[in-house]
Amino acid sequence: MIKRVKNFNLKKLNTFRMDVSAGEFIEYDSVADLLDIDFDTLPKPVISLGKGSNLLFTKDFPGTVLHSDIDFIYELPEDSRLYEGMPDGTVLVSAGAGVEMDRLCGWAADKGLWGIENLSHIPGDAGAAAVQNIGAYGTEFADVAVNINCYDIEEEEFTHFTAEECGYAYRDSVFKHPGFKGRYIVTNVIIALSENKGPVLGYGQVKEAVGQASMGRPVTPGIVRKVITEIRKAKLPEPSVTGSAGSFFKNPVISIEQFNAIRKKSCCEVPHYILEDVVKIPAAWLIDQCGWKGRTHGNAGVHSGQPLVLINATGKARPEELIELKDLIIASVNERFGIQLIPEVEII
Ligand code: EPU
Repeated sequence: MIKRVKNFNLKKLNTFRMDVSAGEFIEYDSVADLLDIDFDTLPKPVISLGKGSNLLFTKDFPGTVLHSDIDFIYELPEDSRLYEGMPDGTVLVSAGAGVEMDRLCGWAADKGLWGIENLSHIPGDAGAAAVQNIGAYGTEFADVAVNINCYDIEEEEFTHFTAEECGYAYRDSVFKHPGFKGRYIVTNVIIALSENKGPVLGYGQVKEAVGQASMGRPVTPGIVRKVITEIRKAKLPEPSVTGSAGSFFKNPVISIEQFNAIRKKSCCEVPHYILEDVVKIPAAWLIDQCGWKGRTHGNAGVHSGQPLVLINATGKARPEELIELKDLIIASVNERFGIQLIPEVEII
């Protein structure tokens, strides 16, 4: 079924809770509904929104916001050709773009399937997860992606992208790039889960907490999911209480020379991850060092548990306040460390 509303208020459809509206809003709950929408006649631009958990609206949006409510999860039958070449114990799962990612993680954990337990409690829907290549604690959506099924609004036909064709990188995919963005609407994702893969425990904090939680019992996806959920709840703002869009900036990648220069000037150990010939530094540390943790700017603020997260501190923040805060943080990190932070959140 298709629901259409003109001048739709988006406050409930963006997790920063910006009080903005869309020229037109269209919600649909089946793949076939897309064939009944005349995309040529819609106010432009056209964007797809899941839970709106990774964007910041800066003003009213003149175009059309599409919202998928396609909400199925099922295992692909064993005779699907997609099983060819997959390791033993693989279970292929199809999930509608409108399925809440955390519901999908819970569904997998309940069935004892490995692969997405580390993505538990990330806000947003499966369709957006495939576009944004969400990631946490050593797992990215790309690690399980097999096929991303889409509707091509230019050719008016259904199509799919293999994981390779999605061009996945750190919080990036082709779907965010010109020529693809706004053209392909994700209808459902096919992911490969596993009955026997085991946990991803590369993060020390996760390994320790899973060890404690399992108390000598075999580790299950359910135990890891519970641990990850607790860690995220302790560190990140509770979405039902405080508006935010998760990490606001990407973790910057710098040269080894620049890293050594920062290390030399720094009073304490600089956290970092070495990636071949470059170094990734946590943006949270840079922002923390610049004294932003827990500070506010008007109604906007920097979360006290994780300074990478900007928040709608009072619930009344205007887009300009968040933009000003973002610019102030970028300027101060740049001045102190010579590093240009890049937003991870899409600014519309
Ligand atoms: N840190 C500080 N001060 C703080 C908090 C953190 O200095 O108050 C430093 C510490 O050195 C810490 C480091 O920052 O070790 C990294 O912090 P954390 O483990 O929380 O991870 P992150 O790099 O800040 C990334 C993702 C998160 C994801 C976590 C866990 C990005 C942009 N963010 O954050 O993803 O949950 O790793 O894997 O890559 C999101 O994308 O919205 C998101 C929340």
